[in-house]
Amino acid sequence: SASLQNQEKHLAATTALRWVRDGMTLGLGSGSTAALFIRELGERVRAGLRIQATATSQASEDLAREVGIPLLEPRRGLRFDLTVDGADELDAQLCLIKGGGGALLREKVLATASDYLLIVADSSKAVAQLGHFPLPLEVVPFALPWVLDAVAALGGAPVVRADKQKAGELAKSDQGNLLVDCHFEVITTPVELARQLQSIPGVVEQGLFLGLARAAVVAQGGQAWVWRA
Ligand code: A5P
Repeated sequence: SASLQNQEKHLAATTALRWVRDGMTLGLGSGSTAALFIRELGERVRAGLRIQATATSQASEDLAREVGIPLLEPRRGLRFDLTVDGADELDAQLCLIKGGGGALLREKVLATASDYLLIVADSSKAVAQLGHFPLPLEVVPFALPWVLDAVAALGGAPVVRADKQKAGELAKSDQGNLLVDCHFEVITTPVELARQLQSIPGVVEQGLFLGLARAAVVAQGGQAWVWRA
């Protein structure tokens, strides 16, 4: 049920606080589970925890500001001790599909600039094989028709994402690009697929996160399991 899923998200988010230390520079993820973590972190900041952070989306940045988390702008040399983010799917090797919320580009930028990526997830995100959740791409608008052709040729039925708020409009990323959800059903060779998708001109980023996550907190019922890569 939705309320059990929300309880699991909350448990995963609060468990992730165990990774946070005073003085850390943090990356803040996007989506509902990451938002719960940001709220919990804000409470710890009000209680005296000293951290600084950069967010992976405008929505998470707005929330972080609202709850009083000191924010850092991107700059050269900036690294993150820890980034806490959600996922749409994760497998036992901690390979991920991300981008269901459209924030995959900034999420991958911060994941790559982080010493430690921690995933927070409810049990519905854990899968034996990736690909049932459609794989998101961020695409430069001019390139869209040819990107759709290339994705179809790779066997992943592409759907241009619609805006959930504005009827008849397409969804836009924070960068003003389009989002394409690719239905592969099962992804048997993620490394090869990631390379193929990333090499399509106009694809700014693709949602496979491979070899990036160091650990995941997966909440199932009242239990928070820690998976390590
Ligand atoms: C955002 O682009 C995604 O990568 C999110 O991390 C993902 O959609 C998980 O969101 P929830 O925590 O809301 O399920």
